[in-house]
Amino acid sequence: MNVYDSDRMTDVLAPLGYQPTDMPDGADMVILNTCHIREKASEKVFSELGRLRMMKEKARDQQGRTVTIAVAGCVAQAEGEEITRRAPWVDIVVGPQTYHRLPELVAKVDPGVRNRIIDTEFPEEVKFDLLPGEHAPRGPAAFLSVQEGCDKFCAFCVVPYTRGAEFSRSVSNVMTEARRLVALGTSELTLLGQNVNAYHGTADDGSTWSLARLIREMAEIDGLERLRYTTSHPLDMEDDLINAHRDVPQLMPYLHLPVQSGSNNVLETMNRRHTKDVYLDIIDRLRDARPDLALSGDFIVGFPGESDRDFADTLALVDKVGYASAYSFKYSPRPGTPASTEDVQVPEDVKADRLEALQQLLNAQQFAFNKKTEGQVMDVLVERKGGRDGQMAGRSPYMQAVNFQGSEDMIGKILPCKITDAMQKSVSGEIQTLKKGAA
Ligand code: 5AD
Ligand code: SF4
Repeated sequence: MNVYDSDRMTDVLAPLGYQPTDMPDGADMVILNTCHIREKASEKVFSELGRLRMMKEKARDQQGRTVTIAVAGCVAQAEGEEITRRAPWVDIVVGPQTYHRLPELVAKVDPGVRNRIIDTEFPEEVKFDLLPGEHAPRGPAAFLSVQEGCDKFCAFCVVPYTRGAEFSRSVSNVMTEARRLVALGTSELTLLGQNVNAYHGTADDGSTWSLARLIREMAEIDGLERLRYTTSHPLDMEDDLINAHRDVPQLMPYLHLPVQSGSNNVLETMNRRHTKDVYLDIIDRLRDARPDLALSGDFIVGFPGESDRDFADTLALVDKVGYASAYSFKYSPRPGTPASTEDVQVPEDVKADRLEALQQLLNAQQFAFNKKTEGQVMDVLVERKGGRDGQMAGRSPYMQAVNFQGSEDMIGKILPCKITDAMQKSVSGEIQTLKKGAA
């Protein structure tokens, strides 16, 4: 979602003459778009700000240039005052719900003088209604935020505090953006939300649409070949959404459905509000609907009170599900969350051991998944040049990164590709060209 938000920030600043650049050096303004989900992500902001301070001073002393420095995103939201205290060279602090105001904030701030601005309101107005419609093409595969915020309050998570209450964009607002993206050359859309399957957008006739209904409508857009959505909570995995995996060919056979833990004790103290069997039953129903569905998940190890036995339950669940890919993290106590004040915190070395064991299993599953696709011919959406000469890169329907020999005119096309070699995090393949004379 930060990638999406960053793009929208460039949209809103474009009329002021700002153009995105790859390198901070030489820029008139640098916006750090930040993540607060774990301590490590959060602390990175301050080391990054140290570097930007030097850059700002160098521009001032050697070139007489003023550089505006802004911090956006969830660290800005949660730690606005702290940022301006620890890094007084920051000019603008703007939260995820107010970045549509960037032009006003930029106009107000004078980076030569110390008049810092903090805007971390949860405003009445909806930023999506105020952001510009026009924007540069986003490429063959693009993100589209349809939902933001979360009301679930998992005991470890800062999202309900930083992103705020659950909010769904209106159907027409989202459909207009989808059509525009497709008109600009996008053929794969990933619908985004912190709790995207809780989507309940208002349609023009006043009715409320579920994510499944929105997906079915989007699949009708000419030129939109692929749809994905992320991230979902198991409790909002309604039947109509499961059925969409059976009925909508554009909906890709890959789903990120975090479970966090395989232990019912831990799930309960995490306030996930479901058991491991509820999760496994959802997975069964999804696989009935779409037998080739590849699954991904998120896991937290070392949640307060997690015993060896609880952790063994997580390994057993992973074993049972079989993931094509997954993300796993050591529990990180976050300020303001209920779990952070529990007095049964798991020692760091135990967390590290558990993470290693879990990742070993998940890596083995990912490799096995990739290996199983060797020899198959898959549709690959070509997205960009690859790392090596003459190499192009794209994604399979199962979200595998695929590398192959090709040329830049393939970008944006969906081409049949025979998978030849499986690696841990990617596969290589050969584009299948039709033989002359073949029908
Ligand atoms: N510590 C570790 N991991 C966390 N996540 C969210 N909060 C924390 C935390 N405090 C993980 C969850 C979530 C993913 C986005 O980040 O697994 O699904
Ligand atoms: Fe955080 Fe996801 Fe739980 Fe919401 S559902 S509180 S975003 S982990």
